[in-house]
Amino acid sequence: AIDIKNLRSETGVITFDPGYANTGSCKSSITYVDGEKGILRHRGYPIEQLAEKSSFVEQAMLLIFGELPSMDELDNFRGMLREQELLHEDLLHHFDGFPPNGEPMAILSAVINSLGSYHPDLYEFKDEYQFRRACAKIMSKVRTIAAFAFRKSIGRPFMYPNPNKSYCANFLHMMFSVPYKIYEPPLGAVRALSLFLIVHADHEQNCSTSTVRMVGSTQANLFASVSAGICALWGKLHGGANAAVIQMLQDIHDNNIKVSDYLEKVKRKEFRLMGFGHRIYKNFDPRARILKGAAHELLLNMGQTDDELLAIAQELEQAALEDEFFKERQLYPNVDFYSGIILRALGIPVNMFPVMFAIGRMPGWIAHWYEEYCQPMRIHRPRQLYMGERLRDYLPLDDR
Ligand code: ACO
Repeated sequence: AIDIKNLRSETGVITFDPGYANTGSCKSSITYVDGEKGILRHRGYPIEQLAEKSSFVEQAMLLIFGELPSMDELDNFRGMLREQELLHEDLLHHFDGFPPNGEPMAILSAVINSLGSYHPDLYEFKDEYQFRRACAKIMSKVRTIAAFAFRKSIGRPFMYPNPNKSYCANFLHMMFSVPYKIYEPPLGAVRALSLFLIVHADHEQNCSTSTVRMVGSTQANLFASVSAGICALWGKLHGGANAAVIQMLQDIHDNNIKVSDYLEKVKRKEFRLMGFGHRIYKNFDPRARILKGAAHELLLNMGQTDDELLAIAQELEQAALEDEFFKERQLYPNVDFYSGIILRALGIPVNMFPVMFAIGRMPGWIAHWYEEYCQPMRIHRPRQLYMGERLRDYLPLDDR
């Protein structure tokens, strides 16, 4: 047996902390979270204020460069985003290598990684301007790649970006316009998408951001590091949760399952209530509150006041909040609980939900990678508790 209390390495005592629940892995000045009080701030600004007043591009600049931009700085960066929105034509061939119904998350991570090979001059930065160019490239092209991955998955030709449109409107255009009909977003759709991206933009050392920092700690380039972040986001306990929530709500709806029966199964631990619980938020997730309001507003604007999945979500939330199992474990709706309702109302298919999360989280990943780039630290290299065989003699094949 191993004495867990006295783990030692050549550098001292080892902390055994599965899942890193109590391990601080870096110093950071980007995002502050107080899980007990439900506080989330980006560079000191409350998420509620950013959601109400800021645009996604403005907030991305705040996260990445540290300050809210002036009008000139914002115009300048918007211009860089416009210049970068097209993909190199050769890069388009990458899409051909995927099957017709290729997973958009697989396409996104692969193409972002490949993008780096088109810009090896941006593997290191001589000055901040060069870094800005890399940021603009990734932030602008991630949106084009995401929309093209969707078009590929439905067998439609790519719709090229329109430089006269805003960041969010341009994305919806690339997703839904067809050559004979330019897509006109319904009232409130662009705002709802912007809000969705803003609340996802950063959340300190979550799994995908820590992955970006871990990969970055090897001095891997920005493109490779954020591509690794996309892969980490994919799982249903992280960025895949928004899709899992909609599938859960749809399942309850289609099979006419009583909410109370569903919760009984969750309490018997047959499965988890998706969109509930958080490693840090133990009272409420401020992002869930913002998105709950936004989901209502969007559906109202779209004249869909009787959305059945939203009604089931609210019933589930209410029942769970009153239930001892959830109270004891401090399980509340997280950002993913209502975000799927918004994406679904925008016409975005479920396999694109984690991709939408990735577009939103991109400024956070870039900001964290750059923070680490500017203050290099030791390569991330956790230790382990070895539980296997101590020593064995090799047995020749014939003797086994
Ligand atoms: N439904 C039912 N029970 C749950 C849930 C849930 N959603 N989440 C946690 N629990 C229970 C666990 O079974 C455990 O119970 P126990 O003490 O009786 O064993 C207890 O609550 C603690 O759970 P942990 O897994 O230790 O909590 P952890 O902090 O590691 O996990 C996580 C956090 C992954 C978010 C978890 O709550 C979960 O799986 N939620 C559902 C998936 C989800 O919504 N993910 C999105 C997270 S937000 C984001 O990534 C943007």
